[in-house]
Amino acid sequence: MPLPKAELHLHIEGTLEPELAFELAARNGVELPYADTEALRTAYRFEDLQSFLDLYYELMAVLRTEQDFADLANAYLARAAAQGVRHAEIFFDPQAHLTRGVGMGTVVEGLWRALEHSEREHGVSTLLIMCFLRDESAESATATLDAAKPYLDRITGIGLDSAEVGHPPAKFREVYEAAAALGLRRVAHAGEEGPPEYVTEALDVLGVERVDHGLRCMEDPALVQRLVRERIPLTLCPLSNVRLRAVDVLAEHPLPAMLDAGLLCTVNSDDPAYFGGYAGDNFDAVRAALGLGEERLRELARNSFVASFLEHDEERRARYLAEVEAYEF
Ligand code: ADE
Ligand code: ZN
Repeated sequence: MPLPKAELHLHIEGTLEPELAFELAARNGVELPYADTEALRTAYRFEDLQSFLDLYYELMAVLRTEQDFADLANAYLARAAAQGVRHAEIFFDPQAHLTRGVGMGTVVEGLWRALEHSEREHGVSTLLIMCFLRDESAESATATLDAAKPYLDRITGIGLDSAEVGHPPAKFREVYEAAAALGLRRVAHAGEEGPPEYVTEALDVLGVERVDHGLRCMEDPALVQRLVRERIPLTLCPLSNVRLRAVDVLAEHPLPAMLDAGLLCTVNSDDPAYFGGYAGDNFDAVRAALGLGEERLRELARNSFVASFLEHDEERRARYLAEVEAYEF
């Protein structure tokens, strides 16, 4: 039995495995510029975040109907459950679909078809977090929040993703304020490729409660102290960091130093279809490459539930935490 954990940094579009991409392409009459799944897999060699994003957005062309989004989410939930995920807070990128003529309703209702049965079918509780693309305009983000208003009973929070450098958090001050006024929780990618100042700005200007990645905080000791003091969780994605070259090799990942510093770190998969593994694979990889002992792994699992947005159901959080404490390696 795998260690129980929550997944807090997972882009649902990043779970599109090549086999499902080809299946959906055939179903929807979409032509992919790859001969087969093997040819597609050879394109999974990335220089940096942008080279990944180019393929990530290209492949989304196959997602057209509610059923496509339901199939995508169901496939993810089955894989996540098999790796011990008990709770998943799932990102989605509506702007990448709206610009292709796929409506907000298609995306949210489609994902919901899978999510509403997830506990019963997969034993995984879920929440949805809607991300804005930071390389699009602030006005586009605001229009996206407006388009989501009929679906807010299904959306717990907002996030910020896509190309980080040159798109500082402050660009999105207004939409984050509007989202906060609507009662939405707030997270943002910061310090993946961007500088530590973006982490500070995400906290001060956007009021984020969790930082996605946050890796480069380690360049600023005062920021590390603040993140420790304020108990701000970081959603790290070790296999992603290697594939997108934020770190050279997994053995040099700063996760142990971050835990030693007292940071509230969690381990997640980001875009598992592209980066070589799901949540459990990320745990296995850091265990092997970084020599993390059982109590460190238990701490990471515990942190994932502590950092999750389960305030509406503390009983559930307590149940998950008890599973972590009782786990026998
Ligand atoms: N969108 C999907 N994955 C992402 C990542 N790792 N960073 C920024 N944007 C993303
Ligand atoms: Zn991400």
